[in-house]
Amino acid sequence: MQISEILSQSKDIHQWIVDKRRTIHRHPELMYEEFETSKLVQNTLKELDIPYEKDIAITGVVGLIGNGGDPCVALRADMDALPIHEEADVDFRSEIDGKMHACGHDCHTAMLLGAARVLKQNEQAIDGTIKLIFQPAEEGGAGGKMMREQGVLENPKVRQIFGLHVTDKLPVGTLASKEGTLLAATSSIKILVKGNGGHAAMPHLTVDPVVTGSKIVVELQTLISRELDPLESGVISITMASAGTATNVIPPTMELQGTIRSLTSEGISQLQNRVREVAESIALANRCEAEVTFPGNDFPPTVNDAGCWDLSKSASEEILGHGMVEEMGPIMGGEDFSYYTEVIPGCFSFIGVGNPEMEAYGVHHPKFKVDEDALSLGTAIHVNTAFNALKGVGGF
Ligand code: NI
Repeated sequence: MQISEILSQSKDIHQWIVDKRRTIHRHPELMYEEFETSKLVQNTLKELDIPYEKDIAITGVVGLIGNGGDPCVALRADMDALPIHEEADVDFRSEIDGKMHACGHDCHTAMLLGAARVLKQNEQAIDGTIKLIFQPAEEGGAGGKMMREQGVLENPKVRQIFGLHVTDKLPVGTLASKEGTLLAATSSIKILVKGNGGHAAMPHLTVDPVVTGSKIVVELQTLISRELDPLESGVISITMASAGTATNVIPPTMELQGTIRSLTSEGISQLQNRVREVAESIALANRCEAEVTFPGNDFPPTVNDAGCWDLSKSASEEILGHGMVEEMGPIMGGEDFSYYTEVIPGCFSFIGVGNPEMEAYGVHHPKFKVDEDALSLGTAIHVNTAFNALKGVGGF
C-alpha cells in the first residue's frame, strides 16, 4: 500500500475510531472481566467480515486478515482498565464508579480496530497473514502470558509482533522507543511480620511487629543504595503497610506489600533473594518472624529486537514525517508485552497523545486525558508497520 493511501484511509475513519474509543472509555472493565469490551471487539470484527477466535485467556480475541498462511506478523492491543475513579473533565467520562481507562488501553483497542478496518479494505494486497491480538489483563494480570500459553503465537506461527502504548509525555504526531531493553522486569513483594500482640502500655510483654516491619521498610532501601552497582537500575517500593485496629493495642502482625523493578530478570531474582534475607534477619533480631513471598507473576523485561525497532522506526517515520520518531532511554515501568518478545522478535513503542494546551497528568492518574488526534495516526502506524514487516519476513 502507498503511504498516502494508508494515511487517507486511516484519516477517513478517524471519527469511527474515536467513537469506538469513547464507547470503551465509558465502560471500563478490570482484568479478566473485559466481557463487554471483548464483545465490542468481536462485533466490530464480525461487521468487518474478519474471522476471529474468542474466549482466549477468558476475554481475549484474535482476528486474522490475509490468506491465513505463512508468513504471519501480529499487532497487539490490551483491553483492561484500572481501579481508579475518573476525575477527567470529558463528556464521555467513565460510567462505572471506581473504574477508569487511565492507562489508555481504550485507545490501544480502538487504534487496532481502526487498523483491522483499513487492512481488511486492502486484504488483496496482503500476501500472508496479519494477526490482530486483543488481550486482557495487562495491568498486573499477565494476560499476555496466558494468551501466549493458549497458543496465540501459533497457527500460523507469528514471526514478529508489534505493540503501541500511548503517552501524554510526548506530543501528538511523535513516537519513541529503542532497541534492546525498553521496560523493566517486575515482581511483587509481600512480607507478613508476625509478632505477639498485647496492651500498648506494656510493650515489654509483647513482640511488636510494627516496629520490626518499619525497620524492614527502611532497611530494604539500602539494598538499592549500598548493594547495587550505581550504574545499574533497580527499585524497591513498599507501597502498602497495614497493621492494627486500635490506638492502645499492639497488633500481632503487620503486612507489607510493594514492588521490585530491575532491567533484567537476573536483577529481579537477586533482589528477591536479598529482600528475603534482610526481612527474615531483621525479624529474627527483633524476636519476630517474617514470611516473605513474591505473589503473582514476575514480568520479564520488555526487550525490543534491533531489526524490529528499525522497522517500526522507519514505518512510523513514513507516517509521521522525518524527525518525528525518537530514541528514548529505558524506563522502570513493566509491561506484559514482554511475554511475547520473550519468545519471538518484536517491538513495543510509545505514541504521543500529549497536547501542550492540556495538562499532562500521566497514565494511572484520575485526570489522565489524551488528544484523540493521535488515534488515526496510531491506526496508520499499525497498518504500515504490518505491511513493512510482512515484506521484511518474505511475504511479497
Ligand atoms: Ni498500559
